[in-house]
Amino acid sequence: MSGMHSFAAWTAFALLASTIDARPQVHRHRRPHGQGTASADDLYTAVATPTATATNFPSLSIQPSHHSLSSTAPYGFTASGFAAAPTVTHSRGQPYANASSTASPIGQPNSPYPLNDTNSASATSSKYPAKFRGVNLGSWLVLESWMTPDVFQGTDAVNQWTFDSTDGAEARLQQHWSTYITEGDFQNMSSWGINAVRIPIGYWAYNNSGTPYITGADAYLETAIGWARQHGIWVMIDCHGSPGSQNGAEHSGHAGAVSWQSDDNLQLSIVVLQTIAAKYGAMQYADVVMGIELVNEPKIGSGANSLATTQAWAAQAYHAVRATAENKALYILHHDGFTGVQSWAAVGTELNSDSAPSDEDQGTFALDLHLYQNQDPADKSLSLDQHIAKACAYPTTDLLLPSNTSTATLPLFVGEFSAQISIPNTTDGIWTPDLLEGTRKVFEAQIDAFEHSSQGWFVWSLKQGGDTGAWSLEAIMENVYAGEAITERKYPGICPFG
Ligand SMILES: *[C@@H]1O[C@H](CO)[C@@H](O)[C@H](O)[C@H]1NC(C)=O
Ligand SMILES: *[C@@H]1O[C@H](CO)[C@@H](O)[C@H](O)[C@H]1NC(C)=O
Ligand SMILES: *[C@@H]1O[C@H](CO)[C@@H](O)[C@H](O)[C@H]1NC(C)=O
Ligand SMILES: *[C@@H]1O[C@H](CO)[C@@H](O)[C@H](O)[C@H]1NC(C)=O
Ligand SMILES: *[C@@H]1O[C@H](CO)[C@@H](O)[C@H](O)[C@H]1NC(C)=O
Ligand SMILES: *[C@@H]1O[C@H](CO)[C@@H](O)[C@H](O)[C@H]1NC(C)=O
Repeated sequence: MSGMHSFAAWTAFALLASTIDARPQVHRHRRPHGQGTASADDLYTAVATPTATATNFPSLSIQPSHHSLSSTAPYGFTASGFAAAPTVTHSRGQPYANASSTASPIGQPNSPYPLNDTNSASATSSKYPAKFRGVNLGSWLVLESWMTPDVFQGTDAVNQWTFDSTDGAEARLQQHWSTYITEGDFQNMSSWGINAVRIPIGYWAYNNSGTPYITGADAYLETAIGWARQHGIWVMIDCHGSPGSQNGAEHSGHAGAVSWQSDDNLQLSIVVLQTIAAKYGAMQYADVVMGIELVNEPKIGSGANSLATTQAWAAQAYHAVRATAENKALYILHHDGFTGVQSWAAVGTELNSDSAPSDEDQGTFALDLHLYQNQDPADKSLSLDQHIAKACAYPTTDLLLPSNTSTATLPLFVGEFSAQISIPNTTDGIWTPDLLEGTRKVFEAQIDAFEHSSQGWFVWSLKQGGDTGAWSLEAIMENVYAGEAITERKYPGICPFG
Protein backbone atom coordinates (compact mmCIF):
# COMPACT_ATOMS: atom_id res chain seq x y z
CA MET A 1 0.00 0.00 0.00
CA SER A 2 0.18 3.21 0.19
CA GLY A 3 -0.25 5.41 2.76
CA MET A 4 2.84 7.28 3.44
CA HIS A 5 1.81 10.48 1.88
CA SER A 6 4.26 13.18 2.42
CA PHE A 7 7.68 13.50 3.80
CA ALA A 8 6.12 14.80 6.98
CA ALA A 9 3.74 11.90 7.18
CA TRP A 10 6.57 9.60 6.30
CA THR A 11 8.73 10.65 9.18
CA ALA A 12 5.82 10.71 11.55
CA PHE A 13 4.87 7.27 10.48
CA ALA A 14 6.99 5.48 13.02
CA LEU A 15 5.19 7.28 15.79
CA LEU A 16 1.83 6.23 14.48
CA ALA A 17 2.59 2.74 13.40
CA SER A 18 1.76 1.19 16.69
CA THR A 19 -1.51 2.98 17.15
CA ILE A 20 -2.99 3.06 13.70
CA ASP A 21 -2.10 -0.31 12.37
CA ALA A 22 0.39 -3.04 12.58
CA ARG A 23 2.65 -1.79 9.86
CA PRO A 24 6.30 -1.74 10.73
CA GLN A 25 8.60 1.17 10.35
CA VAL A 26 10.40 1.58 7.11
CA HIS A 27 13.22 -0.87 7.21
CA ARG A 28 16.75 -0.21 6.34
CA HIS A 29 18.05 -1.93 3.33
CA ARG A 30 19.37 -5.37 3.99
CA ARG A 31 21.73 -7.07 1.70
CA PRO A 32 19.95 -9.97 0.09
CA HIS A 33 21.04 -13.38 1.20
CA GLY A 34 23.28 -15.13 -1.20
CA GLN A 35 23.53 -12.17 -3.47
CA GLY A 36 27.09 -11.08 -3.57
CA THR A 37 27.20 -9.80 -7.06
CA ALA A 38 27.69 -6.21 -7.90
CA SER A 39 24.73 -6.11 -10.21
CA ALA A 40 22.16 -7.07 -7.64
CA ASP A 41 23.25 -4.51 -5.14
CA ASP A 42 24.01 -1.82 -7.61
CA LEU A 43 20.39 -1.66 -8.46
CA TYR A 44 19.71 -0.42 -4.97
CA THR A 45 22.84 1.08 -3.59
CA ALA A 46 23.27 3.53 -6.41
CA VAL A 47 22.41 6.89 -4.96
CA ALA A 48 19.45 8.50 -6.61
CA THR A 49 21.41 10.99 -8.62
CA PRO A 50 19.88 13.97 -10.29
CA THR A 51 21.50 13.00 -13.58
CA ALA A 52 18.30 11.69 -15.07
CA THR A 53 16.80 15.02 -15.87
CA ALA A 54 14.14 15.73 -18.42
CA THR A 55 16.71 16.88 -20.91
CA ASN A 56 18.83 13.77 -20.86
CA PHE A 57 15.89 11.51 -21.53
CA PRO A 58 16.65 11.33 -25.21
CA SER A 59 19.36 8.88 -24.24
CA LEU A 60 16.61 6.36 -23.59
CA SER A 61 15.96 4.15 -26.54
CA ILE A 62 12.22 3.79 -26.29
CA GLN A 63 10.50 3.51 -29.63
CA PRO A 64 6.89 4.56 -29.56
CA SER A 65 5.07 4.58 -32.87
CA HIS A 66 5.50 7.99 -34.29
CA HIS A 67 6.30 10.34 -31.49
CA SER A 68 9.90 11.21 -31.70
CA LEU A 69 11.72 10.74 -28.48
CA SER A 70 15.02 11.63 -29.96
CA SER A 71 14.88 15.37 -29.84
CA THR A 72 15.73 17.50 -26.89
CA ALA A 73 12.50 18.21 -25.06
CA PRO A 74 10.01 15.46 -25.72
CA TYR A 75 6.45 16.53 -26.45
CA GLY A 76 7.26 20.16 -26.26
CA PHE A 77 7.75 20.51 -22.58
CA THR A 78 10.74 20.62 -20.38
CA ALA A 79 11.26 20.14 -16.74
CA SER A 80 10.98 23.84 -16.20
CA GLY A 81 7.80 23.96 -18.23
CA PHE A 82 5.79 22.37 -15.49
CA ALA A 83 4.23 24.29 -12.73
CA ALA A 84 6.22 24.04 -9.56
CA ALA A 85 4.89 21.44 -7.20
CA PRO A 86 2.87 22.97 -4.45
CA THR A 87 3.98 22.30 -0.93
CA VAL A 88 2.95 18.80 -0.10
CA THR A 89 0.34 19.07 2.59
CA HIS A 90 -1.33 17.35 2.87
CA SER A 91 -24.60 -1.50 -8.82
CA ARG A 92 -23.34 -4.55 -8.74
CA GLY A 93 -20.80 -5.28 -11.49
CA GLN A 94 -22.81 -5.16 -14.65
CA PRO A 95 -22.04 -7.78 -17.23
CA TYR A 96 -20.53 -6.08 -20.20
CA ALA A 97 -20.20 -6.91 -23.84
CA ASN A 98 -16.77 -7.86 -25.03
CA ALA A 99 -14.99 -4.96 -26.58
CA SER A 100 -14.59 -4.85 -30.29
CA SER A 101 -12.79 -2.45 -32.52
CA THR A 102 -16.06 -0.59 -32.90
CA ALA A 103 -16.41 0.00 -29.17
CA SER A 104 -16.79 3.66 -28.53
CA PRO A 105 -13.38 4.66 -27.29
CA ILE A 106 -13.20 7.03 -24.46
CA GLY A 107 -10.19 9.21 -24.38
CA GLN A 108 -10.72 10.91 -27.68
CA PRO A 109 -10.45 14.64 -27.42
CA ASN A 110 -13.57 16.26 -26.07
CA SER A 111 -15.16 12.95 -25.24
CA PRO A 112 -17.21 13.42 -22.10
CA TYR A 113 -15.91 11.60 -19.09
CA PRO A 114 -18.91 10.78 -16.98
CA LEU A 115 -18.64 12.86 -13.89
CA ASN A 116 -21.41 11.24 -11.97
CA ASP A 117 -24.08 8.62 -12.16
CA THR A 118 -26.78 10.98 -13.32
CA ASN A 119 -24.69 11.84 -16.32
CA SER A 120 -26.25 8.91 -18.08
CA ALA A 121 -25.74 10.00 -21.66
CA SER A 122 -22.01 9.71 -21.47
CA ALA A 123 -22.18 6.67 -19.23
CA THR A 124 -24.09 4.68 -21.82
CA SER A 125 -21.89 5.87 -24.65
CA SER A 126 -18.94 4.25 -22.99
CA LYS A 127 -18.25 0.59 -22.48
CA TYR A 128 -17.01 1.41 -19.02
CA PRO A 129 -19.30 1.76 -16.04
CA ALA A 130 -20.17 5.30 -15.08
CA LYS A 131 -18.08 4.78 -11.96
CA PHE A 132 -15.50 2.20 -11.11
CA ARG A 133 -16.26 0.82 -7.66
CA GLY A 134 -13.20 -1.15 -6.85
CA VAL A 135 -10.87 -2.73 -4.40
CA ASN A 136 -7.15 -3.48 -4.34
CA LEU A 137 -5.84 -7.02 -4.15
CA GLY A 138 -3.03 -5.92 -1.83
CA SER A 139 -0.24 -8.21 -0.59
CA TRP A 140 -1.04 -10.87 -3.15
CA LEU A 141 1.48 -10.48 -5.96
CA VAL A 142 3.53 -7.89 -4.06
CA LEU A 143 3.95 -8.95 -0.43
CA GLU A 144 3.50 -6.60 2.51
CA SER A 145 4.45 -8.14 5.82
CA TRP A 146 1.98 -6.08 7.87
CA MET A 147 -0.87 -7.42 5.74
CA THR A 148 0.14 -11.06 5.43
CA PRO A 149 2.31 -11.78 8.49
CA ASP A 150 1.61 -15.50 8.23
CA VAL A 151 3.46 -15.69 4.93
CA PHE A 152 6.54 -14.17 6.57
CA GLN A 153 6.37 -16.33 9.67
CA GLY A 154 9.60 -18.18 10.35
CA THR A 155 11.66 -15.94 8.12
CA ASP A 156 13.58 -12.79 8.92
CA ALA A 157 12.35 -11.24 5.70
CA VAL A 158 10.83 -7.78 5.78
CA ASN A 159 9.75 -7.29 2.19
CA GLN A 160 9.51 -9.08 -1.13
CA TRP A 161 13.23 -8.69 -1.90
CA THR A 162 14.36 -10.27 1.35
CA PHE A 163 11.50 -12.79 1.32
CA ASP A 164 12.48 -13.97 -2.13
CA SER A 165 16.04 -14.43 -0.82
CA THR A 166 14.99 -16.91 1.87
CA ASP A 167 15.19 -20.68 1.57
CA GLY A 168 12.06 -22.21 0.17
CA ALA A 169 10.68 -18.85 -0.89
CA GLU A 170 9.48 -20.08 -4.24
CA ALA A 171 7.30 -22.83 -2.75
CA ARG A 172 5.90 -20.43 -0.14
CA LEU A 173 5.12 -17.89 -2.83
CA GLN A 174 3.36 -20.43 -5.00
CA GLN A 175 1.33 -21.48 -1.98
CA HIS A 176 0.39 -17.88 -1.20
CA TRP A 177 -0.36 -16.93 -4.80
CA SER A 178 -2.59 -19.93 -5.34
CA THR A 179 -4.62 -19.62 -2.14
CA TYR A 180 -4.80 -15.97 -1.05
CA ILE A 181 -7.03 -14.90 -3.94
CA THR A 182 -9.36 -17.38 -5.61
CA GLU A 183 -12.31 -17.28 -7.94
CA GLY A 184 -14.58 -17.24 -4.89
CA ASP A 185 -13.23 -13.80 -4.08
CA PHE A 186 -14.31 -12.53 -7.48
CA GLN A 187 -17.70 -14.11 -6.97
CA ASN A 188 -18.03 -12.37 -3.64
CA MET A 189 -16.78 -9.01 -4.90
CA SER A 190 -19.28 -9.13 -7.72
CA SER A 191 -22.10 -9.96 -5.31
CA TRP A 192 -21.16 -6.92 -3.23
CA GLY A 193 -21.45 -4.55 -6.20
CA ILE A 194 -17.72 -4.21 -6.79
CA ASN A 195 -17.07 -3.71 -10.51
CA ALA A 196 -13.29 -3.27 -10.59
CA VAL A 197 -10.08 -4.50 -8.99
CA ARG A 198 -6.68 -2.87 -8.90
CA ILE A 199 -4.01 -5.54 -8.91
CA PRO A 200 -0.54 -4.55 -7.73
CA ILE A 201 2.29 -6.45 -9.40
CA GLY A 202 6.05 -5.90 -9.32
CA TYR A 203 8.21 -5.19 -12.38
CA TRP A 204 10.25 -8.27 -11.44
CA ALA A 205 7.42 -10.51 -12.61
CA TYR A 206 8.62 -9.58 -16.09
CA ASN A 207 12.35 -9.14 -15.59
CA ASN A 208 14.15 -10.15 -12.40
CA SER A 209 17.61 -9.89 -13.91
CA GLY A 210 20.29 -9.09 -11.35
CA THR A 211 17.93 -9.39 -8.35
CA PRO A 212 16.80 -12.13 -5.95
CA TYR A 213 13.18 -11.50 -6.97
CA ILE A 214 11.27 -14.61 -8.00
CA THR A 215 9.19 -14.52 -11.16
CA GLY A 216 5.90 -16.29 -11.69
CA ALA A 217 3.31 -13.76 -10.53
CA ASP A 218 2.16 -12.96 -14.05
CA ALA A 219 0.51 -16.37 -14.45
CA TYR A 220 -1.66 -15.55 -11.43
CA LEU A 221 -2.48 -12.11 -12.76
CA GLU A 222 -3.59 -13.73 -15.96
CA THR A 223 -5.76 -16.22 -14.10
CA ALA A 224 -7.28 -13.44 -12.03
CA ILE A 225 -8.13 -11.51 -15.18
CA GLY A 226 -10.01 -14.57 -16.41
CA TRP A 227 -12.00 -14.72 -13.16
CA ALA A 228 -12.66 -11.00 -13.39
CA ARG A 229 -14.07 -11.43 -16.87
CA GLN A 230 -16.30 -14.27 -15.69
CA HIS A 231 -17.70 -12.14 -12.89
CA GLY A 232 -18.13 -8.80 -14.64
CA ILE A 233 -15.24 -7.05 -12.94
CA TRP A 234 -12.79 -4.67 -14.64
CA VAL A 235 -9.07 -4.91 -13.94
CA MET A 236 -6.52 -2.16 -13.45
CA ILE A 237 -2.99 -3.54 -13.61
CA ASP A 238 -0.82 -1.54 -11.24
CA CYS A 239 2.96 -1.67 -11.52
CA HIS A 240 3.45 -1.33 -7.78
CA GLY A 241 7.18 -2.02 -7.61
CA SER A 242 9.54 -0.32 -10.05
CA PRO A 243 13.24 -1.04 -10.63
CA GLY A 244 15.42 0.48 -7.94
CA SER A 245 12.32 1.17 -5.78
CA GLN A 246 10.35 4.29 -6.58
CA ASN A 247 9.67 5.08 -2.93
CA GLY A 248 11.91 2.97 -0.68
CA ALA A 249 8.85 1.52 1.01
CA GLU A 250 8.15 -2.12 1.67
CA HIS A 251 5.23 -2.05 -0.72
CA SER A 252 7.59 -1.32 -3.62
CA GLY A 253 9.17 -4.73 -2.98
CA HIS A 254 12.27 -3.27 -1.43
CA ALA A 255 12.44 -1.03 1.62
CA GLY A 256 15.40 1.32 1.83
CA ALA A 257 16.92 3.51 -0.80
CA VAL A 258 14.90 5.26 -3.49
CA SER A 259 16.98 4.47 -6.55
CA TRP A 260 14.41 4.43 -9.31
CA GLN A 261 15.61 7.52 -11.10
CA SER A 262 18.74 6.31 -12.79
CA ASP A 263 18.71 6.12 -16.57
CA ASP A 264 18.88 2.33 -16.48
CA ASN A 265 16.05 1.90 -14.01
CA LEU A 266 13.81 4.40 -15.75
CA GLN A 267 14.41 2.72 -19.05
CA LEU A 268 13.83 -0.78 -17.64
CA SER A 269 10.57 0.46 -16.11
CA ILE A 270 9.35 1.43 -19.54
CA VAL A 271 10.47 -1.81 -21.18
CA VAL A 272 8.55 -3.78 -18.54
CA LEU A 273 5.47 -1.59 -18.98
CA GLN A 274 5.64 -2.25 -22.71
CA THR A 275 5.70 -5.99 -21.97
CA ILE A 276 2.58 -5.57 -19.84
CA ALA A 277 0.95 -3.37 -22.48
CA ALA A 278 1.74 -5.77 -25.32
CA LYS A 279 0.03 -8.58 -23.45
CA TYR A 280 -2.83 -7.01 -21.53
CA GLY A 281 -3.37 -4.10 -23.89
CA ALA A 282 -4.24 -6.53 -26.67
CA MET A 283 -7.83 -6.45 -27.91
CA GLN A 284 -8.53 -9.89 -26.48
CA TYR A 285 -8.31 -8.28 -23.04
CA ALA A 286 -10.19 -5.10 -23.94
CA ASP A 287 -13.38 -6.46 -22.42
CA VAL A 288 -11.80 -6.77 -19.00
CA VAL A 289 -8.58 -4.73 -18.59
CA MET A 290 -9.47 -1.05 -18.20
CA GLY A 291 -6.12 0.40 -17.26
CA ILE A 292 -2.41 0.07 -16.68
CA GLU A 293 -0.76 2.12 -13.96
CA LEU A 294 2.77 3.20 -14.80
CA VAL A 295 4.11 3.72 -11.30
CA ASN A 296 2.74 3.65 -7.76
CA GLU A 297 3.49 6.37 -5.21
CA PRO A 298 6.83 7.59 -6.52
CA LYS A 299 8.37 9.44 -3.61
CA ILE A 300 9.11 12.99 -4.64
CA GLY A 301 11.46 15.25 -2.76
CA SER A 302 14.93 15.86 -1.54
CA GLY A 303 17.11 12.80 -1.89
CA ALA A 304 14.35 10.97 -3.74
CA ASN A 305 12.83 11.42 -7.18
CA SER A 306 12.57 14.82 -8.77
CA LEU A 307 9.11 15.86 -9.91
CA ALA A 308 10.48 17.11 -13.22
CA THR A 309 12.12 13.79 -14.02
CA THR A 310 9.02 11.92 -12.88
CA GLN A 311 6.84 13.98 -15.20
CA ALA A 312 9.18 13.69 -18.15
CA TRP A 313 9.31 9.93 -17.56
CA ALA A 314 5.52 9.84 -17.26
CA ALA A 315 5.22 11.30 -20.74
CA GLN A 316 7.69 8.82 -22.18
CA ALA A 317 6.16 5.84 -20.43
CA TYR A 318 2.69 7.00 -21.41
CA HIS A 319 3.56 7.23 -25.10
CA ALA A 320 5.41 3.92 -25.04
CA VAL A 321 2.46 2.11 -23.42
CA ARG A 322 -0.04 3.91 -25.61
CA ALA A 323 1.83 2.93 -28.75
CA THR A 324 2.27 -0.68 -27.62
CA ALA A 325 -1.29 -1.31 -26.46
CA GLU A 326 -3.72 -2.22 -29.20
CA ASN A 327 -6.62 -1.24 -26.96
CA LYS A 328 -6.76 2.54 -27.30
CA ALA A 329 -9.52 2.82 -24.70
CA LEU A 330 -7.14 1.84 -21.91
CA TYR A 331 -6.64 4.28 -19.10
CA ILE A 332 -2.94 4.84 -18.58
CA LEU A 333 -2.59 5.93 -15.00
CA HIS A 334 0.14 7.61 -13.03
CA HIS A 335 0.21 8.26 -9.33
CA ASP A 336 0.66 11.92 -8.42
CA GLY A 337 3.48 11.21 -5.96
CA PHE A 338 1.42 13.14 -3.39
CA THR A 339 2.18 16.40 -5.18
CA GLY A 340 -1.46 17.14 -5.92
CA VAL A 341 -3.70 17.53 -8.94
CA GLN A 342 -2.41 21.03 -9.69
CA SER A 343 1.07 19.88 -10.46
CA TRP A 344 -0.19 17.31 -13.00
CA ALA A 345 -2.74 19.41 -14.85
CA ALA A 346 -0.30 20.56 -17.52
CA VAL A 347 0.95 17.00 -18.06
CA GLY A 348 -2.61 15.76 -18.56
CA THR A 349 -3.43 18.59 -20.92
CA GLU A 350 -0.31 17.87 -22.93
CA LEU A 351 -0.86 14.13 -23.16
CA ASN A 352 -4.61 14.13 -23.69
CA SER A 353 -4.89 17.03 -26.12
CA ASP A 354 -2.54 16.02 -28.85
CA SER A 355 -2.40 18.53 -31.66
CA ALA A 356 -3.57 15.98 -34.23
CA PRO A 357 -7.12 14.96 -33.30
CA SER A 358 -6.97 11.73 -35.28
CA ASP A 359 -3.72 10.72 -33.71
CA GLU A 360 -4.05 7.24 -32.24
CA ASP A 361 -1.16 7.83 -29.93
CA GLN A 362 -3.12 10.12 -27.68
CA GLY A 363 -5.76 9.29 -25.24
CA THR A 364 -6.35 8.73 -21.70
CA PHE A 365 -3.65 9.68 -19.33
CA ALA A 366 -5.24 9.60 -15.90
CA LEU A 367 -4.05 10.60 -12.47
CA ASP A 368 -4.25 8.26 -9.49
CA LEU A 369 -4.65 9.86 -6.07
CA HIS A 370 -4.46 8.05 -2.75
CA LEU A 371 -6.64 9.75 -0.21
CA TYR A 372 -6.12 8.27 3.22
CA GLN A 373 -7.31 9.70 6.50
CA ASN A 374 -5.01 7.57 8.62
CA GLN A 375 -1.49 8.55 7.62
CA ASP A 376 -1.18 12.23 8.36
CA PRO A 377 -0.64 12.90 12.08
CA ALA A 378 -3.26 15.65 11.95
CA ASP A 379 -5.90 13.10 10.97
CA LYS A 380 -5.44 11.31 14.24
CA SER A 381 -7.14 14.00 16.25
CA LEU A 382 -10.17 14.42 14.00
CA SER A 383 -13.62 13.63 15.33
CA LEU A 384 -15.97 11.46 13.34
CA ASP A 385 -17.77 14.53 12.02
CA GLN A 386 -14.46 16.06 11.01
CA HIS A 387 -13.47 12.91 9.14
CA ILE A 388 -16.77 13.04 7.30
CA ALA A 389 -16.37 16.75 6.56
CA LYS A 390 -12.88 16.13 5.24
CA ALA A 391 -14.22 13.42 2.93
CA CYS A 392 -17.06 15.62 1.73
CA ALA A 393 -14.58 18.39 0.96
CA TYR A 394 -12.48 16.29 -1.44
CA PRO A 395 -14.28 17.69 -4.50
CA THR A 396 -13.06 21.14 -3.53
CA THR A 397 -9.65 20.09 -2.20
CA ASP A 398 -7.69 17.05 -3.38
CA LEU A 399 -9.99 16.32 -6.33
CA LEU A 400 -10.35 19.91 -7.52
CA LEU A 401 -9.00 20.42 -11.00
CA PRO A 402 -7.54 23.80 -11.90
CA SER A 403 -10.17 25.97 -13.60
CA ASN A 404 -8.49 25.66 -16.99
CA THR A 405 -8.37 21.85 -16.78
CA SER A 406 -11.27 19.51 -17.49
CA THR A 407 -11.92 15.90 -16.61
CA ALA A 408 -11.32 15.20 -20.30
CA THR A 409 -7.79 16.50 -20.01
CA LEU A 410 -7.09 14.96 -16.63
CA PRO A 411 -9.38 12.15 -15.48
CA LEU A 412 -8.91 11.32 -11.82
CA PHE A 413 -9.04 8.03 -9.97
CA VAL A 414 -8.81 7.35 -6.25
CA GLY A 415 -6.70 4.21 -6.47
CA GLU A 416 -6.42 3.77 -2.71
CA PHE A 417 -8.34 4.90 0.35
CA SER A 418 -9.48 3.32 3.58
CA ALA A 419 -12.27 3.52 6.10
CA GLN A 420 -9.73 2.71 8.81
CA ILE A 421 -9.49 5.88 10.84
CA SER A 422 -8.83 6.73 14.47
CA ILE A 423 -12.47 7.33 15.22
CA PRO A 424 -14.11 4.94 14.87
CA ASN A 425 -11.19 2.69 15.65
CA THR A 426 -11.76 -0.89 14.61
CA THR A 427 -8.18 -2.11 14.87
CA ASP A 428 -9.20 -4.47 17.66
CA GLY A 429 -11.77 -6.04 15.35
CA ILE A 430 -14.61 -5.36 17.75
CA TRP A 431 -17.51 -3.84 15.88
CA THR A 432 -19.60 -2.01 18.44
CA PRO A 433 -22.77 -0.30 17.19
CA ASP A 434 -21.02 3.07 17.28
CA LEU A 435 -18.15 1.79 15.19
CA LEU A 436 -20.49 0.20 12.69
CA GLU A 437 -22.35 3.47 12.28
CA GLY A 438 -19.22 5.59 12.14
CA THR A 439 -17.46 3.38 9.65
CA ARG A 440 -20.50 3.27 7.40
CA LYS A 441 -20.80 7.06 7.50
CA VAL A 442 -17.15 7.64 6.73
CA PHE A 443 -17.19 5.07 3.97
CA GLU A 444 -20.30 6.51 2.34
CA ALA A 445 -19.01 10.07 2.61
CA GLN A 446 -15.75 9.05 0.95
CA ILE A 447 -17.29 7.13 -1.93
CA ASP A 448 -19.91 9.85 -2.48
CA ALA A 449 -17.10 12.37 -2.81
CA PHE A 450 -15.05 10.10 -5.07
CA GLU A 451 -18.03 9.37 -7.31
CA HIS A 452 -18.80 13.06 -7.47
CA SER A 453 -15.36 14.09 -8.65
CA SER A 454 -13.48 11.14 -10.07
CA GLN A 455 -13.88 8.15 -12.35
CA GLY A 456 -13.93 5.79 -9.44
CA TRP A 457 -12.39 4.41 -6.30
CA PHE A 458 -10.49 1.38 -5.03
CA VAL A 459 -10.51 0.43 -1.36
CA TRP A 460 -7.21 -0.62 0.20
CA SER A 461 -7.56 -3.59 0.52
CA LEU A 462 -9.69 -6.73 0.00
CA LYS A 463 -8.08 -8.67 2.85
CA GLN A 464 -5.92 -7.70 5.76
CA GLY A 465 -4.19 -10.60 7.39
CA GLY A 466 -5.91 -11.69 10.55
CA ASP A 467 -7.27 -8.20 11.13
CA THR A 468 -11.03 -8.02 11.00
CA GLY A 469 -11.08 -4.24 11.21
CA ALA A 470 -11.80 -1.59 8.64
CA TRP A 471 -8.64 -2.04 6.56
CA SER A 472 -10.34 -5.07 5.06
CA LEU A 473 -13.20 -4.69 2.61
CA GLU A 474 -14.18 -8.25 3.44
CA ALA A 475 -14.66 -7.24 7.06
CA ILE A 476 -16.54 -4.09 6.05
CA MET A 477 -18.91 -6.05 3.84
CA GLU A 478 -19.48 -8.67 6.48
CA ASN A 479 -19.95 -6.36 9.42
CA VAL A 480 -20.90 -2.93 8.13
CA TYR A 481 -22.88 -3.72 4.99
CA ALA A 482 -24.05 -7.11 6.28
CA GLY A 483 -25.69 -8.27 3.09
CA GLU A 484 -26.36 -4.90 1.51
CA ALA A 485 -24.65 -3.97 -1.76
CA ILE A 486 -21.94 -1.36 -1.67
CA THR A 487 -24.12 0.85 -3.85
CA GLU A 488 -26.72 1.09 -1.07
CA ARG A 489 -26.76 4.22 1.04
CA LYS A 490 -27.74 4.21 4.67
CA TYR A 491 -26.91 7.90 4.92
CA PRO A 492 -27.92 9.33 1.56
CA GLY A 493 -26.82 12.90 1.08
CA ILE A 494 -24.33 12.68 3.96
CA CYS A 495 -22.25 15.17 2.01
CA PRO A 496 -23.83 18.54 1.35
CA PHE A 497 -23.14 18.31 -2.40
CA GLY A 498 -25.80 15.58 -2.42
C1 LIG B 1 -7.34 1.50 18.42
O1 LIG B 1 -7.71 0.48 19.30
C2 LIG B 1 -6.64 -0.36 19.66
C3 LIG B 1 -7.20 -1.53 20.44
O2 LIG B 1 -8.12 -1.07 21.38
C4 LIG B 1 -5.64 0.44 20.46
O3 LIG B 1 -4.54 -0.36 20.82
C5 LIG B 1 -5.14 1.57 19.56
O4 LIG B 1 -4.29 2.40 20.29
C6 LIG B 1 -6.29 2.40 19.01
N1 LIG B 1 -5.76 3.29 17.99
C7 LIG B 1 -6.06 4.58 17.94
C8 LIG B 1 -5.47 5.32 16.81
O5 LIG B 1 -6.76 5.11 18.75
C1 LIG C 1 -16.04 -12.56 -24.10
O1 LIG C 1 -14.98 -13.32 -24.64
C2 LIG C 1 -14.69 -14.50 -23.90
C3 LIG C 1 -13.45 -15.11 -24.48
O2 LIG C 1 -13.45 -15.01 -25.87
C4 LIG C 1 -15.91 -15.43 -23.95
O3 LIG C 1 -15.65 -16.59 -23.23
C5 LIG C 1 -17.08 -14.69 -23.34
O4 LIG C 1 -18.22 -15.48 -23.45
C6 LIG C 1 -17.31 -13.37 -24.05
N1 LIG C 1 -18.29 -12.61 -23.32
C7 LIG C 1 -19.29 -12.02 -23.94
C8 LIG C 1 -20.21 -11.28 -23.04
O5 LIG C 1 -19.44 -12.04 -25.14
C1 LIG D 1 -23.82 15.31 -12.63
O1 LIG D 1 -24.64 15.10 -13.73
C2 LIG D 1 -25.66 16.05 -13.88
C3 LIG D 1 -26.53 15.62 -15.04
O2 LIG D 1 -25.78 15.49 -16.20
C4 LIG D 1 -25.05 17.43 -14.07
O3 LIG D 1 -26.08 18.39 -14.15
C5 LIG D 1 -24.17 17.74 -12.91
O4 LIG D 1 -23.50 18.94 -13.13
C6 LIG D 1 -23.13 16.65 -12.73
N1 LIG D 1 -22.33 16.88 -11.57
C7 LIG D 1 -21.08 17.21 -11.68
C8 LIG D 1 -20.33 17.36 -10.42
O5 LIG D 1 -20.55 17.40 -12.74
C1 LIG E 1 -17.36 -15.49 0.07
O1 LIG E 1 -18.33 -15.06 0.98
C2 LIG E 1 -18.85 -16.09 1.78
C3 LIG E 1 -19.99 -15.52 2.58
O2 LIG E 1 -19.52 -14.46 3.36
C4 LIG E 1 -17.74 -16.67 2.64
O3 LIG E 1 -18.24 -17.73 3.44
C5 LIG E 1 -16.64 -17.18 1.76
O4 LIG E 1 -15.55 -17.61 2.53
C6 LIG E 1 -16.18 -16.09 0.81
N1 LIG E 1 -15.26 -16.64 -0.14
C7 LIG E 1 -13.98 -16.26 -0.19
C8 LIG E 1 -13.16 -16.95 -1.20
O5 LIG E 1 -13.53 -15.42 0.54
C1 LIG F 1 16.17 -7.23 -18.02
O1 LIG F 1 16.81 -6.27 -17.23
C2 LIG F 1 18.21 -6.16 -17.46
C3 LIG F 1 18.74 -5.09 -16.53
O2 LIG F 1 18.52 -5.43 -15.20
C4 LIG F 1 18.49 -5.80 -18.89
O3 LIG F 1 19.88 -5.78 -19.11
C5 LIG F 1 17.83 -6.80 -19.82
O4 LIG F 1 17.98 -6.38 -21.14
C6 LIG F 1 16.37 -6.93 -19.50
N1 LIG F 1 15.77 -7.97 -20.29
C7 LIG F 1 14.74 -7.75 -21.09
C8 LIG F 1 14.22 -8.93 -21.83
O5 LIG F 1 14.24 -6.66 -21.22
C1 LIG G 1 -3.69 27.09 -16.57
O1 LIG G 1 -3.36 28.44 -16.50
C2 LIG G 1 -2.09 28.70 -15.91
C3 LIG G 1 -1.95 30.20 -15.76
O2 LIG G 1 -2.23 30.83 -16.98
C4 LIG G 1 -1.00 28.10 -16.77
O3 LIG G 1 0.25 28.33 -16.19
C5 LIG G 1 -1.23 26.60 -16.86
O4 LIG G 1 -0.29 26.02 -17.72
C6 LIG G 1 -2.63 26.32 -17.37
N1 LIG G 1 -2.86 24.91 -17.22
C7 LIG G 1 -3.35 24.20 -18.19
C8 LIG G 1 -3.57 22.76 -17.86
O5 LIG G 1 -3.62 24.65 -19.29
